[in-house]
Amino acid sequence: MQTREQSARAPFPHTLLLGNFYAGKAQPSTGALFERRNPAQQQDVVSVAPESTAGEVQAACVAARDAARAWAQVPSPQRAEVLGRLVFLLTREKESLARFVAREVGKPIREARGSVQEAIDTAVFFQSEGRRLYGQTVPSELSDKELFTYRRPLGVVGVITAGNFPLAVPSWKIIPALLCGNAVVWKPSDDAPGTAFLFFRAWQRAGLPPGVLSIVYGSGKDAAGQFLIDQVEAGHVNKISFTGSTAVGRKIGEVCGRQLQQPSLELGGKNPLVILADADLDLAVDGALWASFGTAGQRCTSAGNLIVDRRVLATVREKLARRARALKIGDPSNPDVDYGPLINERFMDGFLKQRATGVDGGAELLLDGRRILPGEEPEGFAGDAANGLYAAPRIFDKVKMDMRIAQEECFGPTVNLVEVDGYDEAIKAANGTPYGLSSALYTRDARAMLRFKEEIGAGMTSINNSTTGAEAHLPFGGNGWSGNGTRESGIWVLDSYTRWQAVNVDLSGKLQKAQIDIAAVTLPESDDLEALLPPQR
Ligand code: UN1
Repeated sequence: MQTREQSARAPFPHTLLLGNFYAGKAQPSTGALFERRNPAQQQDVVSVAPESTAGEVQAACVAARDAARAWAQVPSPQRAEVLGRLVFLLTREKESLARFVAREVGKPIREARGSVQEAIDTAVFFQSEGRRLYGQTVPSELSDKELFTYRRPLGVVGVITAGNFPLAVPSWKIIPALLCGNAVVWKPSDDAPGTAFLFFRAWQRAGLPPGVLSIVYGSGKDAAGQFLIDQVEAGHVNKISFTGSTAVGRKIGEVCGRQLQQPSLELGGKNPLVILADADLDLAVDGALWASFGTAGQRCTSAGNLIVDRRVLATVREKLARRARALKIGDPSNPDVDYGPLINERFMDGFLKQRATGVDGGAELLLDGRRILPGEEPEGFAGDAANGLYAAPRIFDKVKMDMRIAQEECFGPTVNLVEVDGYDEAIKAANGTPYGLSSALYTRDARAMLRFKEEIGAGMTSINNSTTGAEAHLPFGGNGWSGNGTRESGIWVLDSYTRWQAVNVDLSGKLQKAQIDIAAVTLPESDDLEALLPPQR
């Protein structure tokens, strides 16, 4: 790790100067450099990293091919030993990593700790999976013949991740991909190059052989992200695993589809949280508040539409607005803060534009939700409004499902109130967007719970819990515009990073033809069959 004196920027900690790492070694940077600034204190340059060129990304992928071959030869229990050491290192460094995540992407420190923990949990899970990675023994229809299935690695996996969970989400992809015997070329978010570097260093320290994991920095569009996708067509990448927008996911799907590859696509969401008339309203408002404004609404699992039965709407509206007004916004290092800054200017732009879209579409602003500017700080604000990308919570009321704001994802502290009459209208509204990532239902009615689980079109659903907060060993992913059906985490993700091989071993010493040389089953004569029929009248 290199550092440089930051006397001009004191009192901020040093800036990380990063370079690509592939073919098993640190690579000199040839392209332009980009800066990542702390979104809570934009004078603080957290890291500087290269915009990788197309040639560099290609070189990384070509070199990864050789590493993949050697790594696939290592028995999976031994590959998993690296994860054991990774768990140790991440656990030991949890606090310093969490502080770095808070500084680089503005995640409140308690949540930043949680996101390091999510990476640890994932590594713990897959460490023991190295001793399973089960195939099957399958009975053969022929004698002296054995059938088996094996999971085989895919080769080189290109991983492209977003900045909102800069450690947890990459760990969901990189850990199982490597455990399964693939090499990985990782293009982390340009919002979190420093966090990516620290994770990469942890892998190196954990003893991952050189070249098995490579890192190439840069932006997505017309840059390193695109160059990595291009490597699918060039034949150097066997699989793309991507977390980001639906628009980009579609393009990746097209490129991979042409090569008959199945990418893993974790895309957007417009997640419904339903509150029925019989719900415990305090519990429901707790969940709605966290789902809508936790992480400043910058989770793909954040709630977009609060779908509330008209009988309890007035109460929910009043409680939610009161609680949202009291949220403490400010510096992510402050442990009392409910949410910190937006991650980047692009999210701020989207958040500000959404206000106009909602108002023009006919929705009413219950809470305005503007950018927090110096001199206009809300009560209790604990940040630096002049230098941070802070936004106040927004609640839209009187939202109809056909309005644009009910349909479009917005990363930021904003949520819609949608009035419905009873369960049937509620489930229709909950399924009324093209997305299908997460969802939630608040009710005490067991039958409504059962129906919701069956009828909701989302990949994940919570009963009496918020839309966010998936655990690291459950399948994570969505339907419709939220993904292509692949899942992250738990045993289910293994299908994304391996392909099945079917093997038959014939020990009979003669050519045995399946379906043909089978032991004959003697069928009764047709007369006999007739004899079985009931007497004809
Ligand atoms: C994301 O926003 O991309 O379920 C992932 C959750 C977190 C992960 C979110 N465990 O909210």
